[in-house]
Amino acid sequence: MMAASRLRLAVVVGARPNFIKLAPIMKATRDYNACAGGGWVDTFLIHTGQHYDFQMSRIFFQELAIPEPDVHLAVGSGTHGEQTGRAMIEIEKVLSEYKPDLVMVLGDVNSTLAGALAAAKMQIAVAHVEAGLRSFDRTMPEEINRVLTDHISELLFCPTETAVGNLRNEGITKGVYLTGDVMVDALLGWREMAERSDILERLGLVTKQYVVATVHRASNTDDRRNLQNILDALSAARERVIFPVHPRTRRAMMEMAVNPPADNVSLVEPLGYLDFLKLLSHARKVVTDSGGLQKEAYILGVPCVTLRETTEWPETLESGWNTLVGSNQARILAALRDSRTAGRSSAAFGDGKSSVAIVQILTTYGLFRPHEEH
Ligand code: UD1
Ligand code: UDP
Repeated sequence: MMAASRLRLAVVVGARPNFIKLAPIMKATRDYNACAGGGWVDTFLIHTGQHYDFQMSRIFFQELAIPEPDVHLAVGSGTHGEQTGRAMIEIEKVLSEYKPDLVMVLGDVNSTLAGALAAAKMQIAVAHVEAGLRSFDRTMPEEINRVLTDHISELLFCPTETAVGNLRNEGITKGVYLTGDVMVDALLGWREMAERSDILERLGLVTKQYVVATVHRASNTDDRRNLQNILDALSAARERVIFPVHPRTRRAMMEMAVNPPADNVSLVEPLGYLDFLKLLSHARKVVTDSGGLQKEAYILGVPCVTLRETTEWPETLESGWNTLVGSNQARILAALRDSRTAGRSSAAFGDGKSSVAIVQILTTYGLFRPHEEH
């Protein structure tokens, strides 16, 4: 018996930023299915298990109404080869059973590359959400993941004009769509709910009288001197700093026996998205090496001090909203004290409807096909 046409969409996620990008896409898919005239999108969610702590994974599914993964591959931590390889082996098995029309991957983590490679080698079309970003720094594992994923993707959903230009410069023009950034969708979609978080009361904070810090980039956590410089700069800031510590960084701090920061710095567990969004939006400044945070800070109008020398989000550097300082103590402190900022372009990352645009493109791409009803 033939059923209505369906698109079998497998989605591969594994790490914290993946879950936040996934949330608005799942919502857009649900909305599409609720009023679908021409077809139906079946999503099949594959969680590689790259991140596994409750505060790094499950909390986002609960808070952002992401359905339970259809499979959990328990890949866990390891070297790049181990983690990416294990994920590929397991994803391949799942794809050969599920037989999707399309595999969607998001961002630039090892699970992204594993999903894209496994699918492309099985001749399954790959859609990359957050395509075209470049820091032009190949020492970053994420840059390698981005470049390789883009070059084997059939559909490339770009968050910015710059990303479209980067792809063009690498000869990729087919299947490229400027959709805007799905993280803006998440931010706008959950901002009101986040405002209801009591995180400021819980931590005894006053709006605009504290700084938020996050650190997890290999270049900062795996080098004792860099990590110590960052902690020392936060201590020297002499204002309240809330530092939700990524598990990688917690481990590095213990293993390398760094000197703990001063009392003005509160080391806390990684936060859920709603608490974090509230914390960020009321902060005076944010100090981070995160990719996603630079942009969230820009959109929320919170000046950002970035603990890196390059960024894949150059738009945030305009008018001094984001400053690249590496891990140099004096530069971190100078940027923390600097209060110059000018106008921002609110449209730089899209209008908050990127996920709807992505689902629209997926459903008009000609991949819909009649499926046997089981
Ligand atoms: C990964 C991504 C990075 C992204 C970050 C988001 C890659 C190459 N890196 O970095 O781009 O910005 O996620 O947070 O994919 N750990 C735990 N519990 C967990 C997860 C990790 O304890 O739930 C610890 C383990 O010791 C592990 C280490 O953190 O070895 C690093 O985890 P991993 O997923 O390899 O890389 P991230 O640093 O999290
Ligand atoms: N984030 C969070 N809790 C935290 C720190 C970050 O929910 O304690 C969110 C943050 O708002 C952003 C995302 O995690 O949406 C960024 O992920 P991360 O910094 O881990 O990865 P990156 O963007 O650098 O790849």
